[in-house]
Amino acid sequence: MNNEEFDRAMMLRCLELARLALGQTAPNPLVGSVIVRAGEIVGEGYHPGAGHPHAEIFALRQAGELAKGATLYVNLEPCNHYGRTPPCSEALIAAGVGKVVVGTIDPDPRVSGGGIERLRSAGIEVVVGIEADACRQLNEAFIHRVLYRRPFGILKFATTVDGKIATTTGDSVWITDTNARTQVHKLRAACDAVIVGGNTVRRDNPHLTTHQTEGHNPLRVVMSRTLNLPEQAYLWQTAEAATLVLTAKGANPDFQQFLLKRGVEVVELDSLRPAIALSYLYERGLLSVLWECGGTLAARAIAEGTVQKILAFIAPKIVGGTSAPTPVADLGFTKMSQALTLERVSWQTVGQDCLMEGYLPAQIWANV
Ligand SMILES: NC(=O)c1ccc[n+]([C@@H]2O[C@H](COP(=O)([O-])OP(=O)(O)OC[C@H]3O[C@@H](n4cnc5c(N)ncnc54)[C@H](OP(=O)(O)O)[C@@H]3O)[C@@H](O)[C@H]2O)c1
Ligand SMILES: [Zn+2]
Repeated sequence: MNNEEFDRAMMLRCLELARLALGQTAPNPLVGSVIVRAGEIVGEGYHPGAGHPHAEIFALRQAGELAKGATLYVNLEPCNHYGRTPPCSEALIAAGVGKVVVGTIDPDPRVSGGGIERLRSAGIEVVVGIEADACRQLNEAFIHRVLYRRPFGILKFATTVDGKIATTTGDSVWITDTNARTQVHKLRAACDAVIVGGNTVRRDNPHLTTHQTEGHNPLRVVMSRTLNLPEQAYLWQTAEAATLVLTAKGANPDFQQFLLKRGVEVVELDSLRPAIALSYLYERGLLSVLWECGGTLAARAIAEGTVQKILAFIAPKIVGGTSAPTPVADLGFTKMSQALTLERVSWQTVGQDCLMEGYLPAQIWANV
């Protein structure tokens, strides 16, 4: 293995470590760090979540004296400001680290490059950009949050091959097979919130949990204007996972009381729209949200710039029905040339089903 391959392998190890805290670091990024001396790993660490030390500090603690003159790898630029914890740049300098290899610079334009500059000014060699794409990909939600002051939005849906998300009567259990559903549970574990609308609660009575695949359950969010919702619903059982209902000012006070008694949090927003909901969830420190709603709310979420990535599970089934719902309702388009064309598209099979992953181009969501 030459030096470049070695550096890449160490950076991938950082990403692997960082992923151990997937879904648990908000509003902080996923960060892993490795310290290498004479070709051997002598310290490793990752950031477990807000309020805990950063990845580099855990790696330094493990390496102890061996950190002196060693090379530290980290997927995100070391911080250089006093936040909840003292800056990592100072800790690296104090430990006498000889070289620092960074995956990507801090996305925040106000502090970007500052940590690297501080290290260099202390005589430490700094290399930047190893496995940069993989590093950016892992922290895509964090980067989006910092740049656009909103959580990163993922719209996930399951359709039959004829494009339906339910039958004409609204039945949608199940479109995909167990493999795809397990993948959805993992996806939820990586997100900070899952959002549905009132109709999905009324029709599907979903759990929206990770179903014990992973430890972490996202915050379950219901957007409902009417609060005309059933009293019996899995989402009101809050022992397993927390539920937040977002509604309009003054909606159904009796039902609000009913929810509060069951430990469901209720928040009235000035205007119950996806953009306002996401601004609110940004203020609460969320990095990513998974839209698992039906077509009506999904169309609004796209139109208001709150969806960046699409995950479409497509099952080899045909259900027909002219009035059966589709994943995205009205966007007001009349010409095929108006279609939103996804970028960075990939296809994979998941059991019997197909998963398409793609991104909405930034010009679609950044200017709304
Ligand atoms: N296959 C899949 O992947 C999948 C996923 C989810 C749902 N579904 C299916 O989709 C169907 C429900 O579709 P849906 O489109 O009615 O979805 P939905 O997820 O229930 O969204 C619509 C509801 O969102 C609420 N809402 C809050 N703010 C809104 C706003 N600004 N604009 C629009 N709605 C807002 C309203 O609730 P209130 O009426 O309570 O005010 C509205 O009825 C069900 O049959 C379900 O089975 C399928
Ligand atoms: Zn730090």
